[in-house]
Amino acid sequence: MSANALTREEATARLGELRSQIRRHDHLYYGLDSPEIDDAAYDALFRELKTLEGGWPDLVTPDSPTQRAGATPLVAFGQVTHLEPMLSLANAKSEAELAAWHARVVRLTEEAGFDPAALRFTLEPKIDGLAVSLRYEGGRLTSGATRGDGLVGEDVTQNLRTISAIPLTLVSGGGSAPERVPVPEPVPELLEVRGEVYLPLTAFERLNESRLVEGEPTFANPRNAAAGSLRQLDQRITASRPLSMWAYGVTAPSGELPPGQWEILKWLKEHGFRVSRDVRLVEGLDEIVAVCRDWERRRAELDYDIDGVVVKVDSRSVQQALGTAGRDPRWAVAYKFAPTTAQTRLLEIRVNVGRTGMLNPYAVLAPVEVGGVTVSQATLHNEDDIRRKDLRVGDVVIVQRAGDVIPQVVAPLTDLRDGSESQFVMPEECPSCATPVVRAPGEVAVRCPNPDCPAKAVEMLKHFVSRGAMDIEGVGDKIVQRLFDLGLVRDPADLYALSEADLMPLEGFQERAVANVLAAIAGSRARPFSRVVFALGIPHVGGQNAELLVARFRTMDALRAAEIDDIASVEGLGPVIAESVHSFLREPSVADLVRRLNAAGVRMKDDARPTPAGGGALAGRSFVLTGTLPTMSRDDAAALIEGAGGRVVGSVSGKTDYIVAGDSPGSKLAKARRLGVHELDEAGLRELLESGTD
Ligand code: IVH
Repeated sequence: MSANALTREEATARLGELRSQIRRHDHLYYGLDSPEIDDAAYDALFRELKTLEGGWPDLVTPDSPTQRAGATPLVAFGQVTHLEPMLSLANAKSEAELAAWHARVVRLTEEAGFDPAALRFTLEPKIDGLAVSLRYEGGRLTSGATRGDGLVGEDVTQNLRTISAIPLTLVSGGGSAPERVPVPEPVPELLEVRGEVYLPLTAFERLNESRLVEGEPTFANPRNAAAGSLRQLDQRITASRPLSMWAYGVTAPSGELPPGQWEILKWLKEHGFRVSRDVRLVEGLDEIVAVCRDWERRRAELDYDIDGVVVKVDSRSVQQALGTAGRDPRWAVAYKFAPTTAQTRLLEIRVNVGRTGMLNPYAVLAPVEVGGVTVSQATLHNEDDIRRKDLRVGDVVIVQRAGDVIPQVVAPLTDLRDGSESQFVMPEECPSCATPVVRAPGEVAVRCPNPDCPAKAVEMLKHFVSRGAMDIEGVGDKIVQRLFDLGLVRDPADLYALSEADLMPLEGFQERAVANVLAAIAGSRARPFSRVVFALGIPHVGGQNAELLVARFRTMDALRAAEIDDIASVEGLGPVIAESVHSFLREPSVADLVRRLNAAGVRMKDDARPTPAGGGALAGRSFVLTGTLPTMSRDDAAALIEGAGGRVVGSVSGKTDYIVAGDSPGSKLAKARRLGVHELDEAGLRELLESGTD
C-alpha cells in the first residue's frame, strides 16, 4: 500500500491499526513467547508502518513502534572481512584417526626443531553452534560477524550485542579471584575473539514448543535455531532468544597474547568471555583418548550440543611451525563422536489427538539405533512441516537426536525413491471420534472440534494426573486409558469417586496397588490451587502462568468472574492467555467439571500459603522436589518452603535454585545436576529453613 494512495483520514486509520497490531505482536513475542505470525509477516507490518510514516511525517506519534530506542531492523547484512581467516578443522572419526593425527604432529614437531616430549594439548568441547568473530578496538566491541566463507562474513554486530555472554567492553585482566593468573597487559588495540554462538538445549525445546503451539515451523536442531536467531534483521528477535557463546580463540595482528592456547582461554575468561569449564590441558595420546571417551559418555548430561572434542597443540610457536594445510591447521583436529543421525525407513505416518484437540502427525520408523538409543517413532509436528520436508510414506529418511531432544525426521533421501512412496494426507475426520476436523484460517494446526472426543478426554486425564499437575502417583497413561475404556472415569472429577470395588476387578491390580492408587488420588486433594488451575488444561496455561493467575485471583470464583482485561493486566500474562482462560472457564462442560472437583474436595482457593511480609528467609528462591523424603511428605515440604517465602515449582530449569531430593528421585535430579542446581536432602532443607543460608 503506497502512502500517497491514501487520504489523510485513511492513513491515520491505517497507522493506528498497524501500531496496535505491531504492539500486540511484540507482546505475544516478547511477553508470552508465543508469536502468532512469522518473522516475515511481522517485518512486513513494520515495513508498511515505516513507509506510511515516511509519507506522512506529521502523523508519526512518539509512541509509535518505529520510535523505539535501539537499532531499527536492517534491510540486509553488511560484510566484514576477518583480520585473519577463520579456519576450519580436519576431522578424526575414530581413535585410530586421532592416533594418526597425533603421530604426524609428533613427527612434524621434531622436524621443526621442537622437542616432541614437551608437547601439550588443550582439549575443548566442540560445540555445535555457529562460529563468530568479534572485533574489539580499544577494548570495545566494534563489529561481529559470522564465519561466511572464512575470509568474509556477514555483519551481525547488532544481534551479537544482544547476547549477554559477549562483553561490549573488555573487562581488564588481573581480576581478584585467586585462581586467576596475571595476564599480559595492556590489551592489544585491535583484536578478534573467536567463539561459538549456541542455544542451550532447554531453550531450544522451549522455543520449539511455543512455535508448535502457534503453528510456526519448528527448528530441526539447536544449531539451526541458533543460526536462525542470529541471522535476524530485527535485533529484537535475536534479543528474545537466550543465545550464549563459548569463546575459544583470539587473534591480534600486533600486540602480546599469551604463548599457549591454555593461557589464551584463561586470558579470554579474564577479559569477560565465557569459556567452557570442561577444557583440559593434557600430555600424550593416552590422555587425549581418555578425555575424548569421557566427554562422549557425558555428552547427554550437558545443556548444549557437542559433536566432538577439539584437540589443539597448546604452544603457539609450535602451532606456527606446523602451519596449515589448505583451510585446516595441522596443529588441531576435531575428534567426532558417533553420529546422532541415522537412516531408516518411514513406515507409516499416524495421527494422534492432543488434549486441546490438535491432530499431531508422527512417524513410525523401522527401528534404528541413533546415538546409542533405539528409535522407532519421531515427531512430525504438523502437516505443513511434512510438506515442507517433502516426506512420503515409504521414504528412507534421516533421523536425528540432538542431546536429549526427542527424535526428529530431518529429511527424506529422495534419490532412493522407487515411486512406491505415498503422500501423507491429513485425515478429514478425527481419528478418534470421526468428527470432521477444522482448520482455522491462517493456522497450521488441524483440530477436532468435538468437545466430547474420547481421545481429547484421555489426553486431558493424562495431563490432570501428570507430575507437574495433580501428580497422582501410580496412575499412569496405561491405567488412565483402561479406566477410561471401562467407562469408570470419563473426566478428572470421576477419579475422586473411584472405589476399591471399581479397581479390584482390574486385571493385574493387587490389593496393595488398589490401596496405593486410592491413597494417591485422595492425597491429590491437597495439591496447591495453582496445580489445580494448571491441571485443568487451559490452552496456553502452563505451570508458571497458573501460578501468576493464582497469585492475582486467589480463588476459583474470582478467576471465573475475571474479565479479559483483568486477566490481561497481570504482569507476565497478556491478551491471548486472557482470552483463552476467559473462554475456557466459561464453557459449560468446564464449569460443570470445576463444580464436581470442588464437591470432591479438590482445592479451589489459594489458602495454603500466607506469603510472609518482607519476603521470608527463602524469598525469591525456587525449589523443585523429587523422590520420597525420609520424614516429610512432599506437600509438607512444599508448605514449609512456601511458608518461608520460597516457591515450589514442578520442573527444573536454569532458574531453579534448589532441588530437594529424597529416595528414588526422578529424572529431575539428573537434569538439576546437569544444570548445576544446588542439591539438598531433607536435613539440608531443614537447615536452610532455619538459617536461610546454605
Ligand atoms: S577452533 C583452529 N575450537 O568448529 C581453528 N572450533 O570445523 C578452528 N568449533 O568453524 C576453530 N568448538 O565453528 C575451534 N573449541 C572450538 C570449537 C570450534 C566449535 C567449530 C567452529 C569452527 C568449526 C571447525
